Amino acid sequence: MINVTKTYLPDKKKYKKYIDEIYENGWLTNNGPLVQRLEKRLAEYLGVKNIILVANGTVALEIAYRTLNIKGFAVTTPFSFVATTSSLVTNNILPIFADIDQTTFNINPNNIENLITPNTSAIVPVHVFGNGCEVDEISEIAKKYNLKVIYDAAHAFDVKYKDKSILNYGDISTLSFHATKLFHCIEGGALVINDDSLVEKARYLINFGIENQTSIPHLGTNAKMNEFEAAMGLCVLDDMEEIKNKRKQIVKTYIDGLNGLAEFQKKNENTTENYSYFPVVFKNESERLKVEKSLNEEGIFPRRYFYPSLDTLDYIEPKQECKLSRIISKRILCLPIYAELEVEIQEKIVNIIKDIIWKIYFYVMQIFVFYR
Ligand SMILES: Cc1ncc(COP(=O)(O)O)c(C=O)c1O
Repeated sequence: MINVTKTYLPDKKKYKKYIDEIYENGWLTNNGPLVQRLEKRLAEYLGVKNIILVANGTVALEIAYRTLNIKGFAVTTPFSFVATTSSLVTNNILPIFADIDQTTFNINPNNIENLITPNTSAIVPVHVFGNGCEVDEISEIAKKYNLKVIYDAAHAFDVKYKDKSILNYGDISTLSFHATKLFHCIEGGALVINDDSLVEKARYLINFGIENQTSIPHLGTNAKMNEFEAAMGLCVLDDMEEIKNKRKQIVKTYIDGLNGLAEFQKKNENTTENYSYFPVVFKNESERLKVEKSLNEEGIFPRRYFYPSLDTLDYIEPKQECKLSRIISKRILCLPIYAELEVEIQEKIVNIIKDIIWKIYFYVMQIFVFYR
């Protein structure tokens, strides 16, 4: 079975060495030495000042809202993984959806301003599939209305904007290091905080709000990463260049093979690519369904990222409608992409898609000729 992704497993011996270290020092969690080591290495690798490792990307978002005291409404995108929205709702913040740009799949900055009200305190955009948002325009809007910006950068590991980490934009960027991600720690996530003065508060918040044995100044939670997860991260980080190069080759095969037959995500010219996903948009829902069915019959399982569009969630009141996000979410498929995906399988995927699209084309042409 070929799934949309397969977790990268680093060298077992290397991982075991870290596990031996954990057994020797008996320090399993609570800001252990491996978590500290990984934070240092990631800050350097990504080119960011302050990074705090946490248990997952969802809790990273929640800690970001609490660190910045976000209340009331937040303008966000409907085209994302559900955690972008559910993390707002669980923190009593109402998501107000601004529709996307149908070519980049990111929030369209032109749709943000007219949704801002006196109750709005934040903008929560997502760098969808690692494609950088229009960060300069978003910063301008935030400045004009005095709003905080929290980027859900779950997909944007090691993405640069104008030669600098895109994680340095906004007040806080959050990352997910789930096993399905480009870089992973089994489960995990991080906050990248630009204002030094907020770092201490965020560190208390991930540890129940505790400052020391006698002081608990904040309402916190348990969001700590453990040492086994940090060990996995340290191993995977060593292999990042190799992982990215393999993915880059897969992207090339898909683009060369499918060019002209389906639409690809339009990349932000100012950002680098990290090859974390390969989304393809088909002409309509019926074509997407036929492609998916043909691939499934061969044991290949692309994913409908993202479906459903989050503005359709039952638990969001008042009801909102973002037409473009709904259209894209019905036509999109993310094709399998992971370091171990063999060239023959990549080519097989391309050929299955090509075949089915040509079949649909000839069928439509026949009808057209018949009725002329
Ligand atoms: C855009 C986005 N935000 C947030 C998350 C949540 O991250 P996690 O699964 O680490 O909680 C994900 C996870 O897939 C994601 O894709």
